[in-house]
Amino acid sequence: MELWWVDTDPGVDDAWALLMMMGCEHIKVLGISVVGGNVGLEHTLANALRVVDRAPYPVPVHAGAARPLIGGLPDAGFVHGSDGFGDADLPAAVAVAEALPAALALIEASRQHAGQLNVLALGPLTNLALACALDPQLPSRCRRLVVMGGAIGAYGNTRVPSAEFNIGFDPEAAAMVFGRWPGMELVDWELTMAAAPLSTEVDAWLARRSGAAQWLQGITRSTAAFVHGNGFERWSWADPLAALVAISPSTVTEWRHAPVEIALAQGPTRGQTVVDWHGLGEFSGPPVAIAKAIDIAAFHAAMQKVL
Ligand code: BDR
Ligand code: CA
Repeated sequence: MELWWVDTDPGVDDAWALLMMMGCEHIKVLGISVVGGNVGLEHTLANALRVVDRAPYPVPVHAGAARPLIGGLPDAGFVHGSDGFGDADLPAAVAVAEALPAALALIEASRQHAGQLNVLALGPLTNLALACALDPQLPSRCRRLVVMGGAIGAYGNTRVPSAEFNIGFDPEAAAMVFGRWPGMELVDWELTMAAAPLSTEVDAWLARRSGAAQWLQGITRSTAAFVHGNGFERWSWADPLAALVAISPSTVTEWRHAPVEIALAQGPTRGQTVVDWHGLGEFSGPPVAIAKAIDIAAFHAAMQKVL
């Protein structure tokens, strides 16, 4: 059984990714840390608790950073709904948050399971950066770190054209984690777009009668309106793609290894993931394993498996 920790800012694609992780036979999710990102922490925390209400076993949820270290982008409520879950007016969760703050809980789990804990990061990297600052040995005790973030060819998805949301929302936190965590695996926005199912396919998946499909359809209604209102042929699912890489790394058909630096200067590139593709050796951080290509059919099958 693989032991995983998930850091997240639910968000509809976070929710789908969490269902994939918690429903996977060879994975146990030991804990979830929550960060403000897609929407404010009061919503992302409430939503994470709603997702663990649907888990097949109890999963502790820890509240983390409400704000980025310094400051980045506006949130993504216009995509996910102002409450992050489609303003579906869901009842409050039965589960309640643990008292221990996120960064401390992650550190504690990594001590209890040294060498065995894997981490999947689906939101801005604020909680992980704080944990690394408190305990610089944290990365050395973790087995894998899979991060959804960045746009390796500078085709971003924020109002900074070259920045992806999770990195652009808290660039300083991202710089800390990229600079300190050897062996990080990166699943970026451009791979997300390349692997995106047709919007009509997603509509059909969500129209199924299962409880999971109906629940996901309810929380995705703002996102569906955004996708269809903009006439998008494809519907991108970033966090489920990162979950697939966590669950089944062999679905990645091409990896590239290169150091990545985060652009921090105020201005048109703030939050960009700059990759040293040519090995020029100017960057100080460790190489990042960048997923460049993936088995797209396996991805779509893995998303549907939870429905
Ligand atoms: C990432 O940003 C968020 O809006 C999604 O939840 C995902 O983690 C994609 O850029
Ligand atoms: Ca997310």
